[in-house]
Amino acid sequence: MSEKATLTVGGASYELDVTTGSENEKCIDIQQLRAQSGYITMDPGFGNTGSCYSDITYVDGAKGILHYRGYPIEEIAEKASFVEICSLLIYGELPDAETLSKFQDALAEHAPLHTNLEHHFSGLPTASPPMAILSAMLNLVSCFHPDVLEVYSEGHGFDRTAALLLSKVRTIAAYSYRMSVGKPFNQPNPNLNYCANFLHMMFSDPYREYVPNPVIEKALSLFLVLHADHEQNCSTSTVRAVASSRANLFSSIASGVCALWGPLHGGANIGVIRMLEDIKSSGRPIDHYLEKAKDKDSDYRLMGFGHRVYKNFDPRSRILKNRLDELLAELNKKDPLLDIALELEEKTLKDEYFISRKLYPNVDFYSGLLLRAIGIPLDMYTVMFALGRMPGWIANWRELHDQRLRITRPRQIYTGSQERSFVPLEKR
Ligand code: ACO
Repeated sequence: MSEKATLTVGGASYELDVTTGSENEKCIDIQQLRAQSGYITMDPGFGNTGSCYSDITYVDGAKGILHYRGYPIEEIAEKASFVEICSLLIYGELPDAETLSKFQDALAEHAPLHTNLEHHFSGLPTASPPMAILSAMLNLVSCFHPDVLEVYSEGHGFDRTAALLLSKVRTIAAYSYRMSVGKPFNQPNPNLNYCANFLHMMFSDPYREYVPNPVIEKALSLFLVLHADHEQNCSTSTVRAVASSRANLFSSIASGVCALWGPLHGGANIGVIRMLEDIKSSGRPIDHYLEKAKDKDSDYRLMGFGHRVYKNFDPRSRILKNRLDELLAELNKKDPLLDIALELEEKTLKDEYFISRKLYPNVDFYSGLLLRAIGIPLDMYTVMFALGRMPGWIANWRELHDQRLRITRPRQIYTGSQERSFVPLEKR
């Protein structure tokens, strides 16, 4: 017999279905509760509310577990390329050699931007925030490929649209950087792999071509893989909410970019480096910053600490931390900010405030140091996060459509004025 939950409220009892996920997560299904009882449930920030059944990513925050389609992040982080992970997340299985090769060809084919789209960059101020450019340009791409607007109503075209998006976003990201430093665009090179092609578009100059560097490309691929999906986080939930109105893939994902931009989400990777630079240049002891973060009269937070789901450790942060030392040695570099980061982490691990609130380094804490090591400019960090998150957003968009989910429309409890009569201006 299937498990049931009983809710007793207002003198009546209601039987609710209990569902169980494949990793034994439990859920009380309240979809019929309002119709049966008149009650809604309240959960601002959706800290304990499921919005979907999903096959894509599994997170166990208490145990620090992250799986993509069943594969533990520790196993795939170093072994799989980002393009393999894109295919895995979007289509559900690891690609065989032929599927992977076709997917890579599609990415290469769609990398160039329409010349008229390129012209849009020249109308923007050079100091434009790269995340604003990214979300705007993603919407603009759909103007040049009107077929993408109809993907699901036509019942085909998803594969092409997904490849087009994954590829164009990389070109747009690199071009936004080139524009910001006043340098000409580098056309994509179809002979380079996903990461090398991005680095070429970012850093090749007429007098100095980008020379492929496997250490840097591998580190970049690791960064992208670690960011590729994270179940129902703020930006993915935004993509799903927009997609639920049957909005096209490009506009849904452009809205995900906007949600990711915020400093409490993807924007934290820039915040972490600014914080570490500030600690270094101020000459103040780290304790000063810990006290400031604990002070309830201050809005200051330690960037890169805390997570809605992880309450023990973030496995992505551990992988990055372990990789950083090795990477800096391979690149023959030293980073004084890494020493500050390590000391900061060590102090928080012994501090009652952080222990009791279960605040540990999240993915953003060490990811900025990796991007610094491989030479990505600071204001591009959140764009790099967006590049990594693309396959997760696309996979969630697809799943929502395949499941034909209802339009997202939460309820509220109204706390404003009760009904009253309008008072004409002269009598107010
Ligand atoms: N520094 C200091 N105190 C913190 C921090 C922090 N980084 N994060 C949370 N707290 C405190 C809060 O003040 C609160 O304390 P209280 O109980 O005394 O009021 C308690 O911990 C719980 O915090 P909430 O804001 O309720 O936690 P929530 O789950 O809503 O937020 C979040 C999670 C947004 C990640 C938060 O920890 C934060 O702001 N961290 C810093 C920004 C950051 O690193 N964001 C990246 C997140 S990972 C990602 O998006 C990829």
